[in-house]
Amino acid sequence: MQNDIQEILISEEEIQQRVRELGAQLSAEYAGRTPLVICVLKGAFIFMADLVKVITVPVEMDFMAVSSYGASTKSSGIVKIIKDLDVPVEGRDVLIVEDIIDSGLTLSYLIELLQGRNAASICVVTLFDKPAGRTVNLEASYTGFVLPDEFVVGYGLDYAELYRNLPYVGVLKPEIYSN
Ligand code: PRP
Ligand code: MN
Ligand code: MG
Repeated sequence: MQNDIQEILISEEEIQQRVRELGAQLSAEYAGRTPLVICVLKGAFIFMADLVKVITVPVEMDFMAVSSYGASTKSSGIVKIIKDLDVPVEGRDVLIVEDIIDSGLTLSYLIELLQGRNAASICVVTLFDKPAGRTVNLEASYTGFVLPDEFVVGYGLDYAELYRNLPYVGVLKPEIYSN
């Protein structure tokens, strides 16, 4: 276990098992279709990579990078597009892949944006959900794990851009972020 981690909440094996289950469900959901799978950078890149390998229907993939304007405007739901999609979503069955839903603001912004671009359907899969953080009413169609209201890192989730590469999800030692 990485030295800055106090406790492993979800092991690598548990994550991989759940990703396989989600892949099977999504393969059934999209049978006969070719969804456009959108990765919300950066956090979702590891989940995206593992998930698409266990989806058995043909998929197209694209990547989008977003960030909130800052702490003061985050509550307003203003999200800045750092990198937009390369392909049009009009008429496409879109599957948005997220690592975590916290307040829900990032996703509610993205969903509205893609609806405005006339996607045929929009479905959200998130590996983690922290319902305690929610400020807007939003639920993913598919959720891997519900997390307690604790600061966790790993499997895409960062603290100050670190720890994304951990293959598990763990609780950071308080001394790491309290100084
Ligand atoms: C994190 C996470 C989600 C979002 C969830 O991304 O990856 O995208 O926050 O929070 P919300 O539901 O309150 O909007 P972040 O903005 O930290 O960027 P990152 O993916 O590059 O880490
Ligand atoms: Mn993110
Ligand atoms: Mg982050």
